[in-house]
Amino acid sequence: MTSVLVLYMSRGGHTARIARRICESIAAASGRAEMMDITEAEREGVDWGRYDVVALGAPVLYGTYDKRVLAFVARHRAALEAKPNSFFNVSVVARTPEKATVEGNRYLQKFLRLSPWQPKDLKVIAGKVDYPAWPWHERVMIQLIMKYTHGPTDPRTVIDYTDWDDVRAYGEHLLTLA
Ligand SMILES: Cc1cc2nc3c(=O)[nH]c(=O)nc-3n(C[C@H](O)[C@H](O)[C@H](O)COP(=O)(O)O)c2cc1C
Repeated sequence: MTSVLVLYMSRGGHTARIARRICESIAAASGRAEMMDITEAEREGVDWGRYDVVALGAPVLYGTYDKRVLAFVARHRAALEAKPNSFFNVSVVARTPEKATVEGNRYLQKFLRLSPWQPKDLKVIAGKVDYPAWPWHERVMIQLIMKYTHGPTDPRTVIDYTDWDDVRAYGEHLLTLA
C-alpha cells in the first residue's frame, strides 16, 4: 500500500484542513496517509523510511512563507529529495484562474527561488478570506492586497475559495507519484 506523508504549516487552520482533505482522499483511494505539522515534525522527528511520497504545504503570508517553512525545507532537503515529493501553496490570490497555475502564481515561483529543495511536483491551491478571524492589523494588510487584486474588502467577509474537489484530485495524484 502506498504511503504518503503530508507535512504542512498553517497559521489559521485552513492549510491544516486542506492537508486533512488530502489525507482523506488518499485513504479513500486505498492509500495510507499521515499528516504532520512541521513544528511537530521538527520536535518529534520524522521516520522518513515509512513513506513512499512526501508532500509539503504552506500558506502565503505577506507575500512570502513563514521562516519555519524555509528552515524546515533547508534542514530536510536530502530526505525530501530522496523520494517522490510535492509542494503546494495556499493563497487568496489563487482565487483567479490565471494565478491558480504553477506558471501564473508568483508566490510559487518565489518559493522555488527561496527554497534549496526544488520539489518535483507543484500545486497551487486557493485559500480562505476570513476577516472576522484576523486581528485588525492583519485584516487591514489583506484588505490592501485585496484592493489591489480586485477582491473583497468588506471586513465581514468570510469566503472559502478552495476547490475541494481539486484538493481531492491532488491527493489521488500524490499516490500516482510513487
Ligand atoms: C497575516 C496574513 C497574511 C496573508 N498574506 C497573503 C498574501 O500576501 N497573499 C495572498 O494571496 N494571501 C495572503 N493571505 C491569505 C492566506 O494565504 C489564506 O488566508 C490562507 O488560507 C491561510 O492559511 P492558514 O489558515 O493555513 O494560515 C494572508 C493571510 C494572513 C492571515
